[in-house]
Amino acid sequence: MTSGDHILDYPDVYPYMAEEPRLLHPENYDIPGTGAHVYDTPKGKVGVVNVVGHVFMKDRVPTRNAFNTAQQAVARLREQTPVVFVDIHGEATSEKIGMGWLLDGQASAVFGTHTHVQTADAQVLPGGTGYLTDLGMTGPHLGVIGRDKDTVLKRFTQEEKAYMRVAKQWVRMSGAIFEVETGSGRCRSVELFTHALEDTSDPEPNEA
Ligand SMILES: [Fe+2]
Repeated sequence: MTSGDHILDYPDVYPYMAEEPRLLHPENYDIPGTGAHVYDTPKGKVGVVNVVGHVFMKDRVPTRNAFNTAQQAVARLREQTPVVFVDIHGEATSEKIGMGWLLDGQASAVFGTHTHVQTADAQVLPGGTGYLTDLGMTGPHLGVIGRDKDTVLKRFTQEEKAYMRVAKQWVRMSGAIFEVETGSGRCRSVELFTHALEDTSDPEPNEA
């Protein structure tokens, strides 16, 4: 499981991360645990790298450059397996697209997270790296990127500090399937998906 900027809000999870490499933090945050690891799967070894972007990260800016960090981490994991996935958790499409080109031919797939909105640019780059600017959100879509829409609109129109409740309805799982050749690590295809996880026909507003 990869993570992002908000991992810094929960230092109580650091001791757990220090011992549990299945939970990654962005490799360019200097906190306990890791942001790059190789896992044994039924189909062979799979490397996963997690980095955070620089744009609009306010007080959660990375301590090291996302691009250099990702490049070094991918090279390190490739000593164990050609199959390496990279999650760049960032706001700017330009950073994510740049990361895709930087790692084309090195990573099996580069995909973005953080904006919560799935993008329509799934492709396999010329060097064999599958690419998608944002996987999209798994969570409630009757809202504004996961928060209750009425409380968000209050914040936009009236009170800058209004509390934004978590939305509850129209829960969907979004993501992408990257088909990768295990021998070479090359991506063959990318397929987007969004599945409704509950009845999404009810337009009633969320309860308080
Ligand atoms: Fe984020």
